[in-house]
Amino acid sequence: MASLKTVIYLEVCLSAWILCTVGDSFAPKAENVHWVSLDFKTILTWTNKASDYKYTVQYSRDGNDWTDTECIRLSESECDLTEDLMFSDRSYSADIQTKPPTLDFDYDFDEFPHTYSTHFNPYKESNISAVTFSVKAVDEHTVIINITDPLTGIHQGDKQLTIRDVLKKDLKYKISYYKSGRTGKRDNISDTSVAEVSGLDAGEQYCFMVAAFIPSRPKATQQGAWSMQSCIEGYVEEWSLGAWVGVAIIVLTILITIITVTILCYRCCRQRNRTLHTSQSSAPV
Ligand SMILES: *[C@@H]1O[C@H](CO)[C@@H](O)[C@H](O)[C@H]1NC(C)=O
Ligand SMILES: *[C@@H]1O[C@H](CO)[C@@H](O)[C@H](O)[C@H]1NC(C)=O
Repeated sequence: MASLKTVIYLEVCLSAWILCTVGDSFAPKAENVHWVSLDFKTILTWTNKASDYKYTVQYSRDGNDWTDTECIRLSESECDLTEDLMFSDRSYSADIQTKPPTLDFDYDFDEFPHTYSTHFNPYKESNISAVTFSVKAVDEHTVIINITDPLTGIHQGDKQLTIRDVLKKDLKYKISYYKSGRTGKRDNISDTSVAEVSGLDAGEQYCFMVAAFIPSRPKATQQGAWSMQSCIEGYVEEWSLGAWVGVAIIVLTILITIITVTILCYRCCRQRNRTLHTSQSSAPV
């Protein structure tokens, strides 16, 4: 069998000796193979030397047989494996094989180099992006944090799944907050995407940040990116314009009353003084 291969190979070499003399040892290997995965959109990337060679990607689940992908004889150096890997809690590895520039010489002698990726588990290792959320005060000491679950790269039917659809009960959120102008931070872990934070001091400004948190994962990949910070004034400050106008009217009324009373009293006293004075001076001696 080996000798037959050699014969065919020699024939190929004779008919295309340039390819063979440039040689399989010069066929460029895929290098710097990396998994890049965000919100379960998973892409395998690599670098290659500028050449006409192509790359074909296969993957293996839990060390089983190699499975073909859509990435066949690629000129570019990345392969989107989102649809193949989905979000399963399994260990995948990929094989990037260099292929000759034209199909004519695609004899499978394994003489073209392979590069194997590291193992990757999308469920445990896909990064989670920063979330957006809103904060609303419900009373002096309590706010409601409403978090929007980021969308994943995975579609099921018409629906684009959220990270909650994928991670289900494994998804928690870490809510970090501090009183404006103070350094002490407090953390809350919430099981749900709508969370209540209580025990706040009345009339103070608080600032909040949120990150996805998956305690079932290994430490390095447990936490998603932190959101932007969102601050909320203390509930007491949260008066409507109407309330402020009301207060202003009351204050103004009190002020006017005080001034009026003061003026009246003043006039009244002067009147009495003058009357007293007149009656004294006109009194008969
Ligand atoms: C996740 O993010 C970190 C930090 O940005 C990065 O180093 C790592 O390669 C990313 N992992 C994946 C699988 O994309
Ligand atoms: C949270 O926000 C979403 C969309 O922004 C809204 O539909 C939902 O009613 C909010 N939930 C609560 C409890 O405020």
